[in-house]
Amino acid sequence: MDDGDSTAAGSAPPMLAVNHRPLHVTMVASEAAPFVKSGGLADVVGSLSKALGRLGLRLSLIIPAHRSVLEGRFQIEDTGIRFAVPVSHRMEAGSLLETRLGDAVSVRLIRADRYFDRAGLYGTADGDYPDNAERFVFFSRAALEVLTADPPDILHAHDWQAALSAAFLRADADRYPELRSTRTVFTVHNAAYQGIFWHLDWHLLNLDPRFFAPGYLEFHGSVNFLKSGLVFADAVTTVSPSYAEEVKTPEQGRGLDGVFRERADSLTGILNGIDHEAWNPQSDPFIASTYDPASLAGKRLCKADLQRAFSLPEDPEVLLVGMVSRLASQKGFDILQEALGQLLDRRLQFVLLGSGDRRYQDSLSAAARERPDRIGVRIAFDDALAHRVVAGSDVLLVPSQYEPCGLAQMYALRYGTIPVVRATGGLRDTVQQFDPASGTGNGFVFGPYRAGALVEAIDRTLSAFQRKTEWTALMKNAMAADFSWDGSAPAYLRIYKQLSGK
Ligand code: GLC
Repeated sequence: MDDGDSTAAGSAPPMLAVNHRPLHVTMVASEAAPFVKSGGLADVVGSLSKALGRLGLRLSLIIPAHRSVLEGRFQIEDTGIRFAVPVSHRMEAGSLLETRLGDAVSVRLIRADRYFDRAGLYGTADGDYPDNAERFVFFSRAALEVLTADPPDILHAHDWQAALSAAFLRADADRYPELRSTRTVFTVHNAAYQGIFWHLDWHLLNLDPRFFAPGYLEFHGSVNFLKSGLVFADAVTTVSPSYAEEVKTPEQGRGLDGVFRERADSLTGILNGIDHEAWNPQSDPFIASTYDPASLAGKRLCKADLQRAFSLPEDPEVLLVGMVSRLASQKGFDILQEALGQLLDRRLQFVLLGSGDRRYQDSLSAAARERPDRIGVRIAFDDALAHRVVAGSDVLLVPSQYEPCGLAQMYALRYGTIPVVRATGGLRDTVQQFDPASGTGNGFVFGPYRAGALVEAIDRTLSAFQRKTEWTALMKNAMAADFSWDGSAPAYLRIYKQLSGK
C-alpha cells in the first residue's frame, strides 16, 4: 500500500526518499466548496485544502456524494472500490468515487444513495432528517475504511458530521491497525451545532458501552457527536482566536465549555482565510465592473447595478447597507428587526440576500413589500448575487449574536465595503473600529447585543460616509487588509508537523 517506502527501499537513498515524501493530510467534512455548500464550513474546507496543497502537502478530501455533488458539473469517476462498514449490528455498503479540486487536491466521494441522494444536506424546511445519526456514523466509518488503503499522517475532521471519524480511530483502534500512526485534528466551526441524538441511537456507533459516559460521548443522557471529536482528537482548533477563548465560557460553550477547558492545552484558534482568487474585485466575473484600490470608479457602477437588481432608486449618495447571511438567530436578525424602523428614519437603503429560518424570511419579505423604495430582500442562496451585494454595497452589516469566524466581513473588506459588526468571535479579530482622528481602523464595531447599539453604530457610519475624504481613506484601509490563507495555512501546518513529528 505504502508506495513511498517500497520504492525507497529499491532505488533512491532511503533517507532522501523519506524526507521527500510530503506530509499527507486528509480532510473529512460534510461540505466542501465548490462541490457542496450550505455555509462557511464549505468555503473553508475547500480553500484551506487548496492552500495547503500549494504549500506542498499531499492533500485529499473526503466528503459524502450528496445529490447536489452528483448533479453538479464536476468530472467524477467511479474508482470501482466497494466497501461495507459496521452500522449497528449490520454492515452497510458504499462505493468510492473520485474527482479533483484544482491541481493539488484529490477528492474522494463516499457514495451511498440511501443516505446522501436527498434534496437537502441535513433536512428539509420541516426539520432535520430523522436518520442523521445513522447517516454520519456511516460517513465517518466509511472515511476510515477508505483511509486504511492509503493511511495519511493526519486525519483532519470538521464539525459534528465528521467528528466520529477522529473518535472511532481511537475508541475502536483495533479495527484500524493500518491507521495506528495517523494523528487527528478536529476543527469546530460552530459549537452550537453539536449533533445531539437520543440515547437509543447509541447502538449505531458500535462502541464499547464504557464510552457512553460523561467523560466521553454521553451528554445529558444523549449521544453528542461534536463532543466525541473534542474528547478524542489529538488537537482541537476553532476558527478564530477569540472564539477559542469564548467556547471555554458557559455562554458560548453550549454545555461543552468544561470539555473545551479540559482540552485547553491542545486547543488553538486559527483565523479562517478566504479564497483570494474567487473573491477579488480586480477579476470577479460576477460584478458589473471590476476595480482596485487605486481606481474605485468601478465600485460606483457596482452600486448602481445592485440598486437596479433590487429595484431600489439609483442614488449614489444614499448609504447602501448590504447583508449576505444565513437567516438564523445567530446572525443577529432579532436585533436587526427591532432596529429596522429606526434605521429607516436614516438616509439609507437596505439589501438582504439569504435563506434560512422561515420566521425571518417572512418578516423581512413583509418589510420589503411595505418599503420597496428602501428595502430589497432576496430569499435565496445565490453565489453570483452574493458577489454583487458584497461589491455594490457601501457597508456590510454583520450584527451577529456570536460568530466563530465569519467570512462575509473579510470578503467585504477586500471589496472596500465597510463592515459594521458586533464585537464577537472572529468579527472582533478582523474588524477594528475606525478612528477619524488618526485614520486607523477598517470598520465600525458595537458591543452590546441590542438594537440601540446597532443603530448607534450605523449613525457613526453615516457621519463618516458624509465626509468623502474620510470615507475614501477608510475604504483604502479596508482593502489593504490581507485575509488570504498565506497567514493561516502555516498555523495548521505547524500543528500537523508537531503531531506527526515530520
Ligand atoms: C460556521 C460559523 C462561521 C464560520 C464558518 C467557517 O459557519 O458560524 O462563523 O466563519 O463556520 O469556519
